[in-house]
Amino acid sequence: MAFTLPPLQYPYDSVEPYIDKETMQIHHDKHHAAYVNNLNAAIEGKSDLAGKSLENLIINIDAVPESIRNAVRNNGGQHFNHSFFWETMAPQGPKEPAGALADAIKAAFGDPETMKKQFNEAGTKQFGSGWVWLSKTIHGKLEISTTANQGSPITEGKTPLIVNDLWEHAYYLKYQNRRADYLAAWWNVINWVKVADRFSK
Ligand SMILES: [Fe+2]
Repeated sequence: MAFTLPPLQYPYDSVEPYIDKETMQIHHDKHHAAYVNNLNAAIEGKSDLAGKSLENLIINIDAVPESIRNAVRNNGGQHFNHSFFWETMAPQGPKEPAGALADAIKAAFGDPETMKKQFNEAGTKQFGSGWVWLSKTIHGKLEISTTANQGSPITEGKTPLIVNDLWEHAYYLKYQNRRADYLAAWWNVINWVKVADRFSK
């Protein structure tokens, strides 16, 4: 079994000016590719792991042999998060959530702008590298959280809906130390259609 780098479903320069082409190229073709390569190197020759999905590996990380557990946790987690992240973005589409998703956001936060504000604040406050999420809990409630490094809400039984990447490699070329500016601008390229699809499942 080998994992593969999913191709970006839109051109590298199509999310400009919010994210620059060079950042997208390095982020996808170098950073994400390296996580996939390192994951494959870690599980090479481990036939007992063959056929397991990426989610299965991450959620049941204790079933992975200890000698490669950290490599699988780190690189598998980053592979999952980045694949999810690329799909959370689209160069075009509706600017606001609709339907049942909009209703749930309204119920949990009052309105989309308040949700975005809380999401951005959580992402700005996250110390060091990590990710900021909007997830659906097992009780169907919407919740904002952050994870450090490669962490994901799926290990807590939550269904992630939105993610943004807080690693400096996601924004440093254009925004340098201004993570808050990156987080605010990023909402211009959110894929609300995909988020609604995740919410409905
Ligand atoms: Fe990243």
